[in-house]
Amino acid sequence: MRDAYIVTSVRTPGCRRAKGAFKDTRPEELLSFILKSAVEKTEGLDPAMIDDVMIGCAFPEAEQGLNIGRIAGRIAGLPETVGGATVNRFCASGLEAIVQSSMRIMTGWSDIAVGGGVESMSFVPMGGNLPRPDADYSRDHADLYVSMGITAENVAFRYGVSRQDQDEFAYQSQMKAAKALEGKLYKEIVPTPAVTFVQQADGTYKKETFLQDVDDGIRADTTVDRLAKLPPVFRAGGSVTAGNASQTTDGAAATVIMSGDMIKKLGVTPLAKLRYYTTVGCRADEMGVGPRYAIPKLLDMAGLAVGDIGLWEINEAFASQALYCIRELGIDKYMDRLNVYGGAIALGHPLGCTGAKLCAQLVNRMKERGVKYGVESMCIGGGMGAAALFELCE
Ligand SMILES: CC(C)(COP(=O)(O)OP(=O)(O)OC[C@H]1O[C@@H](n2cnc3c(N)ncnc32)[C@H](O)[C@@H]1OP(=O)(O)O)[C@@H](O)C(=O)NCCC(=O)NCCS
Repeated sequence: MRDAYIVTSVRTPGCRRAKGAFKDTRPEELLSFILKSAVEKTEGLDPAMIDDVMIGCAFPEAEQGLNIGRIAGRIAGLPETVGGATVNRFCASGLEAIVQSSMRIMTGWSDIAVGGGVESMSFVPMGGNLPRPDADYSRDHADLYVSMGITAENVAFRYGVSRQDQDEFAYQSQMKAAKALEGKLYKEIVPTPAVTFVQQADGTYKKETFLQDVDDGIRADTTVDRLAKLPPVFRAGGSVTAGNASQTTDGAAATVIMSGDMIKKLGVTPLAKLRYYTTVGCRADEMGVGPRYAIPKLLDMAGLAVGDIGLWEINEAFASQALYCIRELGIDKYMDRLNVYGGAIALGHPLGCTGAKLCAQLVNRMKERGVKYGVESMCIGGGMGAAALFELCE
């Protein structure tokens, strides 16, 4: 099999659902902008050379429906000869899209492909606009459709993750992010046009744009005491709060992937190679445990141990599940390698975008720090986990 090289990996900022900078920016606008940026940042890349575009989206309907993978490519100015698809594996969708594009390179079916992800949780709510669970199946298996917050409560209760530990973990995520923001360390972010509707003198509204260059959910002023005072939001007497859960977020990310032959031909310097990818299934009502099973499966495939991994991007869907997985796997011995510029509790979790966003964060940090192996992993609604191993190109 050939190698799949990650050449460019970028993202928009992540902004708060309904309250943040992208609340009026349609998902096609976010995605087409970041696709265009990824192509423009790739030296020597003529867009007509791209074979296909795969885009992760967890709720591909309404404004992000009708195959946004194709629509956003056209809005981005890619030639009509470049195809586009939408891929759904809920919170791993963006990673799944990058992997499917990479596999096209590995098999020799493509030389240049783009993978990415998008989610506007402002435009399309989590669960979709009109959820219609299967009535017969859900009579006995309602767990498949359970709220993600309840699954986080289940993990906390069943595996003894205390409220205090969840809040401390959330606090650390916010502090790492605040420090990275202050140091302007998020090099993978492309300042992105955000739409705003400005009222005119005659009472009508005019569409205008401004440039958004930071994740707007970071709370540099939070404290463990303030986190401890927040009420549980999913279960009475529970421990999952607005402060120790991932934020609901709008964002998009894109990655350009090439074969070794194409890299040589264009003379581009790759960032990393995608080495392995795997998924697992687990109990739906505690879907947050997914990484605890996906990561060992991935490391076994690669013949590596936890200590060999220099950087981890493990999605913080909830502090309870992230902490459980980290502890079970012994990653808590390497906290200085985990979500080094903050995780989804501080930066947000734009569902279908997240896998592509974590890729951009991971490979760019690997490059900055000269780290050989990096892993991204996440839990997935319905009861799954995914994990991918990237290797730095020397
Ligand atoms: C938990 C959840 C319901 C909270 O939603 P929300 O009420 O819109 O959350 P917000 O971030 O706006 O926070 C609400 C309030 O809590 C307080 N708060 C939140 N985080 C805080 C922090 N770190 N420190 C102090 N106060 C905080 C603030 O008062 C905030 O109000 P403000 O924004 O006006 O300051 C939502 O974030 C959620 O559903 N998260 C999980 C998403 C999910 O399931 N994803 C899929 C995973 S598989």
